[in-house]
Amino acid sequence: MKISVIGCGYLGAVHAASMAELGHEVIGIDVDPARIESLQQGIAPFHEPGFDALLKKNASRLTFTTDMSVAAHANVHFVAVGTPQAADGSADMTYVNSAIEGLVPYLSESDLVVGKSTVPVGTAERLSAHVTPTGAVLMWNPEFLREGFAVEDTLSPDRLVYGVPEGADGDTATAVLDEVYAAILAKDTPRLVMNFATAELVKVAANSFLATKISFINAMAEIADVTGANVTQLADAIGYDTRIGRRFLNAGIGFGGGCLPKDIRGFVARAEELGVGDALSFLKDVDDINMRRRTRVVDVLTEELGSLDGKTIAVWGISFKPDSDDIRDSPALDIAESLACSGATVVSADPEGWKPAQARVERAGLSASLTTTDNHRAAVTGADALVVATEWKVFQEEDATAIGALMAQKLVVDGRNCLDANSWKEAGFRYRGMGRT
Ligand code: UGA
Repeated sequence: MKISVIGCGYLGAVHAASMAELGHEVIGIDVDPARIESLQQGIAPFHEPGFDALLKKNASRLTFTTDMSVAAHANVHFVAVGTPQAADGSADMTYVNSAIEGLVPYLSESDLVVGKSTVPVGTAERLSAHVTPTGAVLMWNPEFLREGFAVEDTLSPDRLVYGVPEGADGDTATAVLDEVYAAILAKDTPRLVMNFATAELVKVAANSFLATKISFINAMAEIADVTGANVTQLADAIGYDTRIGRRFLNAGIGFGGGCLPKDIRGFVARAEELGVGDALSFLKDVDDINMRRRTRVVDVLTEELGSLDGKTIAVWGISFKPDSDDIRDSPALDIAESLACSGATVVSADPEGWKPAQARVERAGLSASLTTTDNHRAAVTGADALVVATEWKVFQEEDATAIGALMAQKLVVDGRNCLDANSWKEAGFRYRGMGRT
């Protein structure tokens, strides 16, 4: 089949390459010429395991361009542009609106437009009024991929969700998308067909649930900190109950990234617009608990070191999660910036996130007190404390004795509860976890 993918960020670029992997002819379209140039050369513009190889493997079926008119050669058009957080917390729909506006002149009768972006409920209904006059059909097909596992999640998803219009158009849309995803459906992947509103809500409900789970365990960490309980053991124990499950119960410095934080805020804003804000007031607590985790690290360091003024602090981790170079709303980078603003000299190390962070640090005017590097051993040299803020494997596998020998003081704050506390204590470290000692 001939497919266009509009928007070539994490979601769109991976989707485009994955559709080519399924055997389709794919055109990726984006307004950013540098991104398109890189993709066209087969070079991933971001760090995502397996993506480079997928791009190269499918190069013969993949074209990338900034020219929307080439979408006219395709019959199925995926819209995968970003919906960042607007100043008032709602989802900024600028890119979705302009993608649809730009695409409409090139649509033909019987084309299928498939929305993948995370949008406020009611968006598909609104956009279909622009699409249907061309004779094309709009449907919504939310994406549940995780960064770091994007390729795997796209090609082997837990489920496929189709939001379709009522009647014959819905049947047509379902049949066409089934053809696009034939290879995935052949693996017995559950496929759920529903109306627009339900499909849009599935996405934000799933992310809200995950965020709530993380904030729940972080609330338990707050209680554990004042009672001497161990939140990791608590999570293990409740997680054995299959109704609860152990996944997404890792306490620490909380969730960040381009999705969970903005999606819960956008969902709250939309519910308020719809007059049902009370239904989601708990998500504000989820957000508050999450943001408190970031200040908790600064508080623990202040407790241990007294004033932070003049202290040297190493932070391991800049990306919002391991195996990613994404620094959007990263707790690790936020904490490093807060420490720098409190008078400390901070060296942040990350195998991938160090590069994009440098520009942000310069923009924030913090480059005199916050530097970034990919060398985590250099970062701890002479430091008064080490904060582990992103659980990259290379950090977890470090030799505590060797690290202690490089530092001025042996203090470690394990912001992700990812270290073997005993081996760090045995190496002479004062160990502070999040909800565990
Ligand atoms: C999230 C969802 O997990 C995906 O299903 C969804 O498709 C995606 O958002 C999206 O909307 O596009 P992602 O942002 O890649 O995926 O990251 P997650 O793996 O969900 O992690 C989010 C944050 O939660 C990270 O900062 C991570 O460190 C943190 N986290 C995760 C915890 O603090 N504790 C946990 O137990 C798990």
